Parts: sequence; C-alpha cells; structure tokens
Amino acid sequence: MDLPPRVMEVDDTLTLRAFAGEADLPELFRVIEESLEHLRPWLPWAGEHSLARTTRFLARRAELWASGEEYTYAIVVDGAIVGACGLFRRDENRDEAREIGYWLHPSATGRGVATRTARALAEQAFRLPGVDLVEIVHDAANLASGAVPARLGFIAYERRAFEPVAPMETGEDQVWRLTRDRSTADPAARAGRPGLAVGN
Ligand SMILES: CC(C)(COP(=O)(O)OP(=O)(O)OC[C@H]1O[C@@H](n2cnc3c(N)ncnc32)[C@H](O)[C@@H]1OP(=O)(O)O)[C@@H](O)C(=O)NCCC(=O)NCCS
Repeated sequence: MDLPPRVMEVDDTLTLRAFAGEADLPELFRVIEESLEHLRPWLPWAGEHSLARTTRFLARRAELWASGEEYTYAIVVDGAIVGACGLFRRDENRDEAREIGYWLHPSATGRGVATRTARALAEQAFRLPGVDLVEIVHDAANLASGAVPARLGFIAYERRAFEPVAPMETGEDQVWRLTRDRSTADPAARAGRPGLAVGN
C-alpha cells in the first residue's frame, strides 16, 4: 500500500510531521492544555483530556498509520507544535473518500495555518491510490472551521444530523466536498492560491 510522506514541508515556516510516539508527549500535552478552552466547545475529546488520554493517542498513531485508517500529523510552525491534523478513512466501504480534520493552538490562529494545512492534506489525499473525494465535516455553527474548506474551493455538499456531544455542537454537521476533478480544474488552484494545486 502507498503511504503518504511522514513529513510534509508545506512552506518555509509550516511543516506537517507524523507524531513520534512518546517523544512528543510533553510538548503535545502542554499545547492541548493551553488550547483546552478553545477546543472544548467543538471537540468532544477535549472534554476528556488527560495525560493518560494523550499518551494513548500517541501510542496508537503508528498502528493506525500502518493500517491506512488515519494519517495524523503534528502541525509544526517554526519548529514548535501548534496543533494537529489528519487524513482519515471514516468508512471502510468508501475507498475513494478521505476526511480531513484539524485544530490549532489559539495563538496559531488567524494566519492561514489551518487553510495551508488542509490544502496540503487534500493534495496528499488525491495522491493516494483510488482516492477522488475529500471531505471536511464540522458542526454547522463552527464558522471558523467552515471557512477553511470554503477558502480552498470545497463545495458545501450537505447538512446532516448527529448526536451533539461537545458544548457548542448543535447536532447539525456541515459536510464539504472536494473532488479530484474540481481540485485540478479550479482556476484558483491553477493560479496557485488560495485554491488547491493538485497535480502541478
Ligand atoms: C478551526 C480552526 C483550526 C480555524 O483556524 P483559523 O485560524 O480560523 O484558520 P486559518 O489558520 O486557516 O486562518 C484563517 C485566517 O487567517 C487569515 N490568513 C492570513 N494568511 C492566510 C493565508 N495565507 N491563507 C488563508 N488565510 C490566511 C485569513 O484571512 C483568516 O483570517 P480571519 O479569521 O480574520 O478571517 C480554529 O478555529 C480551531 O482550532 N478551532 C477549534 C478546533 C476546531 O473547531 N477544529 C475543527 C473541528 S471540525
């Protein structure tokens, strides 16, 4: 099976790198601790944050990477972890689809880091054999999250109901889709920014 690169140098300052297991524990744990207030409204796992949970999260990365289920990366800016992101296979019956997820430390927001991260992950997704659809899914009220796929030319595909868990979740998800065809045909993509530059 083709695997994505473990390190992606997105630009001069931004790197996505696969988590390094226990070696990342002190830094990742601190970054999550500092981000909790900002993450809790939207991310159910943030409500259960603990050292044991972060340890387990890091311990499972290698296995999930090898199985192709989840490619999870630390978002690194100027050498420091500022968040995490991933390319996920949510449904084993949908070989052709992957989902992108992301979160940032509050101090790393407002600079396009999530947008550049999602662009790099989508480009990577379309390099995986058979993948021609990338989705980003977020609570309909999470406007900051939705602005990321909107900037990249994803289409607002559908809304669907789910059981809310995190405090701000409304129970309605917004699903954004980008198809391989659209990512290569998008004029913004061909111009370089802010769309995708898949296949260039
Ligand atoms: C979702 C989340 C990652 C979005 O972060 P963000 O900082 O808004 O997104 P970006 O990093 O792409 O930055 C976009 C901002 O940088 C600006 N920007 C600057 N340079 C940019 C560039 N090169 N490209 C794109 N945007 C750029 C944009 O104009 C935008 O500013 P605005 O917020 O004033 O409109 C963040 O809000 C977060 O971590 N939320 C909590 C966790 C969460 O909800 N995760 C998603 C769950 S589905």
